[in-house]
Amino acid sequence: MAAIKLIDLVRKYGDTVAVDRLNLEVNKGEIFGFLGPNGAGKTTTIKMMTGLLSPTSGRVEVGGFDIVRNPMEAKKILGYVPDVPMLFEKLTGREFLDFVCEIWRVEKKEEKIEYWLRTFELLEVADALIESYSHGMKQKLSMVQALIHEPQILILDEPFTGLDPLSAKKSKDILQEFVAGGGTVFFSTHILDVAERFCDRVGIIVRGRLVAVGTLEELREVSDRTLEDIFLRLISSAGLGEKREES
Ligand SMILES: Nc1ncnc2c1ncn2[C@@H]1O[C@H](COP(=O)(O)OP(=O)(O)OP(=O)(O)O)[C@@H](O)[C@H]1O
Ligand SMILES: [Mg+2]
Repeated sequence: MAAIKLIDLVRKYGDTVAVDRLNLEVNKGEIFGFLGPNGAGKTTTIKMMTGLLSPTSGRVEVGGFDIVRNPMEAKKILGYVPDVPMLFEKLTGREFLDFVCEIWRVEKKEEKIEYWLRTFELLEVADALIESYSHGMKQKLSMVQALIHEPQILILDEPFTGLDPLSAKKSKDILQEFVAGGGTVFFSTHILDVAERFCDRVGIIVRGRLVAVGTLEELREVSDRTLEDIFLRLISSAGLGEKREES
């Protein structure tokens, strides 16, 4: 069974069609990269996948549960890292995680909070107010809140933006461990190198439409090039981006 299914998913904002009849299946146990230029519809898609935004039409299934009809069941197995961390600035990191654990009724919460703070090297700032955290620290805390209730599926919107190389590497290792343990990862990114080396499959969205999906090898059958080249070609053939010289 697919971990995530998008079925004829559409989202309009007034006359703007932000997501246009998206159909996509993400398999259990895979790392799926969602790529596309600014304004392509990645965040809109992700917000519909996590139940924060209702589709204009179409459906999202998470672990077999319809996110609109069975939101509780679906959300229980989901971890979500938004593009902008949603944290309570007036709490300390530890207080915030305690609060998150209460919501999810996490057992042995002290142990888990300690474990994740240590894993993301946040122990030193655990008792400082979140408002005093750097961007990267907030991003890491946001990852902890997504992982701490032990979800089956992680959905992340540009998780590596603003992380230093060591933190980015660590986050990738943690996501890989998560997948090795049976989890599924879906994330959006602009970092094509990361997508190229890290994902089992990628999907490319341009102007709300999925223009390519597959493993890197499958995408290379179209042209024997780097992901960056494939990406730029797809964008320009969709009428976006700079006109590129033929080589
Ligand atoms: N709340 C909103 N109201 C109106 N239009 C919106 C809203 N949110 C997004 N849009 C529009 O929907 C389209 C898709 O935006 P979205 O944020 O999903 O893109 P994105 O792929 O995440 O871009 P980025 O890479 O810059 O994060 C854009 O045209 C954007 O202007
Ligand atoms: Mg976005």
